[in-house]
Formats: sequence, C-alpha cells, structure tokens
Amino acid sequence: MNNHYQSRDPGWRRSWSFIAATTGATIGLGNLWKFSYLAGENGGAAFVLVYLICIVAVAMPVMIAEVILGSRGRSNPVDTMRHVSLEAKASSLWQIIGWLGCLAGLLVLSYYSVIAGWSFAYAGKLLDGEFVATSALLSGDIFNDLLAAPKLMMQWQAFFLLCLFFIVALGVRKGIALATRSLMPLLFILLIALAIYSSQVGDFKAAVDFLFQPDFSALTQQALLDALGHAFFTLSIGVGAMLAYGAYVPDQRSITGMVSTVVLMDTVVSILAGLAIFPLVFSLNIAPTMGPGLMFVAVPYGFGNMIYGNYFGALFFVVVFMAAITSGVALLEPATSWLSQRCRWWRPAAAIVTVLVVWLLGLATIFSFNIWQHIDIFGMSLFGLLDFVSANLLLPIGGLLIAVFVGWIMRKEVLRDQLDIESWQIFSLWHWLLRYIAAPGVLVVFLWSLYPWLTTLIIK
Ligand code: PFF
Repeated sequence: MNNHYQSRDPGWRRSWSFIAATTGATIGLGNLWKFSYLAGENGGAAFVLVYLICIVAVAMPVMIAEVILGSRGRSNPVDTMRHVSLEAKASSLWQIIGWLGCLAGLLVLSYYSVIAGWSFAYAGKLLDGEFVATSALLSGDIFNDLLAAPKLMMQWQAFFLLCLFFIVALGVRKGIALATRSLMPLLFILLIALAIYSSQVGDFKAAVDFLFQPDFSALTQQALLDALGHAFFTLSIGVGAMLAYGAYVPDQRSITGMVSTVVLMDTVVSILAGLAIFPLVFSLNIAPTMGPGLMFVAVPYGFGNMIYGNYFGALFFVVVFMAAITSGVALLEPATSWLSQRCRWWRPAAAIVTVLVVWLLGLATIFSFNIWQHIDIFGMSLFGLLDFVSANLLLPIGGLLIAVFVGWIMRKEVLRDQLDIESWQIFSLWHWLLRYIAAPGVLVVFLWSLYPWLTTLIIK
C-alpha cells in the first residue's frame, strides 16, 4: 500500500485494534434496541433475511469504500476528502462528504446520548428492584415518568458524554483503542451469558422460530426500507466514522478481511441480542411489535418477572451502555479530529467543545418528550425530526456520495493500491457491487423513502 499522506496520530498498531474499534463503532443501540424492535415490527425472520442481503450487497461494499478513503487520505474526514479529491483531480466540493459526516455524527450523537443515558438509569432501576413482579402497565408508567423528568435525563446524558470525553480526549491509541479493546470482549461474554439466561427462563423456542423462520407475507415495503436504512446505521456508514478510523489502518493489511470480520461480529451481536430479548417477550405474551418502547418497557417488565431478573436485567442495561460508549466515541471522533488537526487545537479542548455542542443539541431531544412536546414539525417531534434528518437523510446521502466517488471517480489503480493484498476476484466483485448495486440501490431506496414524506408535504 503506497500512501501519499501520513496521519499525524500514531493510530492503531495492530489490525486487532482497528477491528476492535470498528466493531465498537458498529455495535451499539442499533443492535440491541433498534434491530429487535424492527424485526419485531416487520415479521421476524423475513426481515432478518432481507436485512442480511442489504448488508452484504449494499452496506458492506460502501463500508469498504469508506475505509479505503480514510486509509488513502490519512487524516480527519474533511482533509481526507480534500487529499483524495485532489489526487483524483476532482472538484474540491467532494469535501462535503467530510463535512456532512462531522455534522451527521454530532446530530446522531445528540439523541443517541440521551437514549444511552436512559439505559444507565435503567441499570440502576433494575438493580434497585423497581421492576420486580411489575405489570406491563406499571413498567410503561416508569418509562413515562422518566420521559417527564428533563433534569434527570440531562444528568444521565451528561454522564454518558463525560465518559466519551475522557476516552476521546486521550487520543486514538491511548483512549479509543484501549477502551474498545477492553470493552468489546466483555460485551460479547456478557451478551452470551444473557442469551443463555433468557433461554433458561423464557420461551426460547418461540424466539428461535420468530428469528429464523421467515414469514414472507409480513414483508411490507416499509420493511425493505427499514432493512436498508438499518444496514447503514448499524455499520455506521455515512457519518465519517469509517473515514476517521480508516485513517489509522495499519499498512499491508487486508481491508476486506478486516471489514468482513467486523460485519460478522456486528451481525452475531444483533442475533444474540434478539436471543436475549425475545424469549422473555414471548414467555410473557408481549406483542413483539410494540416498537421503540420494546427495550424500555417490555424488556424490564420481562426481566422483572423472572428469577434473578433484577440482576440480569441490570446487566443487560450495562451491556447496552457499554455498546453505546464505543459507538458514541466513533460519532464524536470525526468532528474532534477535524478540530484538533485542522484548527490545531489541543485534543482535550477539541473534545470538550464537541461534547458541549452535542449536549446542547441533545436538549432538543430531551425537551421533545416534555416541555416541548407540543412542537410539531412536518408531523414529527423534535426527536423524530433529528432522527429523520440524520438517519434517513444524511446517512444515505453520505453513503451515496461515498459510493459514487469511490466507484466512479477514483482511479482503479489507486483503489487497487489500497486493496493490494486482495485477490483480483475479490477486488472486482467489490468494485462491481459498489458501482452497480450499492450506488443505484441507495439512490432508489433513498428516493422511495422520501416519497411518502414529500407527498404529505405537498398535500399540506
Ligand atoms: N452503529 C451504531 C449502532 O448500531 O448503534 C450507530 C452508529 C455509531 C452510527 C457510530 C454511526 C456511527 F458513527
């Protein structure tokens, strides 16, 4: 691999650090919370199958492309895009990929940090026995009480952001690599323990049938959109995180090999999370289709009614919090590395500024559940709007621009140079998928997902 640019941060020393950090970025609330409720709403196994196809054919080629950009540009997302567009003799406007990434990262983190804060609060509630022998109704009331307490939510969100600050301020090698290398194996072990526990106390067979026996009649158009959107979200594509992490990829390593390992681990964690959640859900006859409340209403209700459930439930929410930490770090890194490299700020100062911006933005999410509940923008709450703009608009736009730039603008020799250890077959397959499946696929699905929204806007 012949890199034209060298990153200033020493970065990952080993492939394992890159794999751990990237796995940490991909495994998060998306796996433990969003995947289960999306599968629940969209008929289980049929959704899982479509989701896996989206991962392999669309999201993974784009993820490889994003890591390639990072490893070629060797800088923060904005400067990386400046370097690679200069090299490709393309317009410097392509830097927009880096800008959008930094912005999307901060926007996603603004509500992500609020939900991460809830999970830590829930670990405490379960340990305190608040959910022991509770009813589903009471469990719902406890969640509503939390939503009605903005100060409490602000404190938990601040606690989460403080953890992120310490990790990101320490830099890539001493902070991010160390944190992810220790948290990731622990997360796997705890999740396996939780799945075993659930299989013993809950209805494991119903959960396995639900997750692995496809019922295609349940597949709607919405399910297809959700599957692709989630594939992008879970692999953390389009927010500059892979651009930032790719900048530190060690030389002479197989990028496709490392990305495949990450994708595999991400998928295993989603399935494990399903196996930890659904046996409880089914044994208590809760409808798996209850949507986003699944994790904060049904899951604690489930644990609360099982033997030793308060301990295992607390553990579950600690796992959620850990997963959110390693993802949060990846969301914060693009903007922080830009401030510290381009503006030459001391890294802790850059981290404190990004954390503060996120904390302030997060207030919109917190207040949208209580004092700003009445605010309605295009039929969405402020939280809904932030989620829509970042996950449904900025992420796919970022992914699409990356697919077009790498697939159609960058020279093939340069790409081959970055993927020099891969066989020609693998290289050609990846390039073909990126050009002819991923790029048009994202465009079609993106326009399709905007269609209902645009029509309601026009009718209004
Ligand atoms: N992949 C994370 C999840 O599934 O929760 C979300 C995410 C993390 C998106 C980091 C983007 C990112 F940079």
